[in-house]
Amino acid sequence: MFAKNSPPIDDKYTIHLKELPSPPAHELHALFYRSTRHYKEFCAMATAVRLGLFEALKEPLTVEALCLACDILPEPTHPLCGLLSELGLLSRWGAQYKNTPLSSIYLTTASPWFQGAVIRDIQNGFFLWDHLETVLKEGPVAVEEETFFEDGLVDSLAAEILCGELQKTVTTVAGLSAFKKARSLLDLGGGHGLYAIALCQENPDLRAIVFDFPDIATKAEAVLKTHGAHRVDFVSGNLFADDFGAGHDVVLLSYNPGGKSPDLLNKIADALNPGGLFVTKHLYYRDGEGSKDRLMDLEWSLSAFKGVSKGPHIYRFGGDLHWEAYLKLLEERFTIVETMDADTFAGHPLAKFGDRLDSRMICAVKKNQ
Ligand SMILES: C[S@@+](CC[C@H](N)C(=O)[O-])C[C@H]1O[C@@H](n2cnc3c(N)ncnc32)[C@H](O)[C@@H]1O
Repeated sequence: MFAKNSPPIDDKYTIHLKELPSPPAHELHALFYRSTRHYKEFCAMATAVRLGLFEALKEPLTVEALCLACDILPEPTHPLCGLLSELGLLSRWGAQYKNTPLSSIYLTTASPWFQGAVIRDIQNGFFLWDHLETVLKEGPVAVEEETFFEDGLVDSLAAEILCGELQKTVTTVAGLSAFKKARSLLDLGGGHGLYAIALCQENPDLRAIVFDFPDIATKAEAVLKTHGAHRVDFVSGNLFADDFGAGHDVVLLSYNPGGKSPDLLNKIADALNPGGLFVTKHLYYRDGEGSKDRLMDLEWSLSAFKGVSKGPHIYRFGGDLHWEAYLKLLEERFTIVETMDADTFAGHPLAKFGDRLDSRMICAVKKNQ
């Protein structure tokens, strides 16, 4: 039997010890359980990656042999391996453990689909959450926009999109007739450069430019080198302040701060040849629409980019157009040839900055005016 009204919290108040509080505590404890358990599982996975457990367990090993290989202690390693097995990341044969296909593809460094950068990015996000109290009392953590992207997000996105979003995006774009005859492509805020590289692989006559902040150059150039992308160049600049040229056949704008900016849309239209293709992938808000995800809104509020005005909801910037107004402006200068919902092209959410939520991909061809 639960008491109708819970007792006031007061150290002078004496309760009958048999009295149960109402509402029952399990409603609260279930929330604690969900969060603590998942956080601890995440710590186990991240530590196992960092210490090279999955590198060592490409071959079956006993816990003792694993400890020798990774220079760690057997007592905590036994339950760690048990937990990782429960999570589907290790399998056990007798006294030996070995990677499963899931850990072998995504958690070993030599794999092209290694997700270590995603883990690091999630951990960077925890740093901001650790400052929630300070943010609530003193305001958001100030970050340089260039450093924010350079500091792990771009690497994480590169790893994330290789799990499906890149392939689906490229297949859609490569199927469009405007792309098949294209000779030049501009990937604005292209970061890692993977879209430009993959699209050049689809069209042997295409040359591409990845345009991004100068801080991203080293990262992008390393990716270009890895993929032997001789037809892709990196050009540094700020897409709001700098000229990014004219005469392009394709402009790609994927998850950028300017994704809903009218000025940037007009600048892109000016940079494209008539008949040129604009591919844009962003999260839009309908006129009057509020939150899409409260947790992501809170994460959005934790940091402030210097000189950039953020709105109250995730990926909302000052001066953004809402969905209806953006479409109207787009259709003044373009004919839409394809739109896709995130479910058809995006990967699994990670509850972190970079999640697609209900983003849309729009492919539009510039009108001959
Ligand atoms: C969220 S990432 C998206 C990267 C890539 N387009 C993708 O979809 O995976 C945003 C990118 O835009 C770049 N960026 C943001 N603001 C920019 C600006 N004002 N000028 C140039 N690049 C910018 C960032 O450096 C980063 O590489």
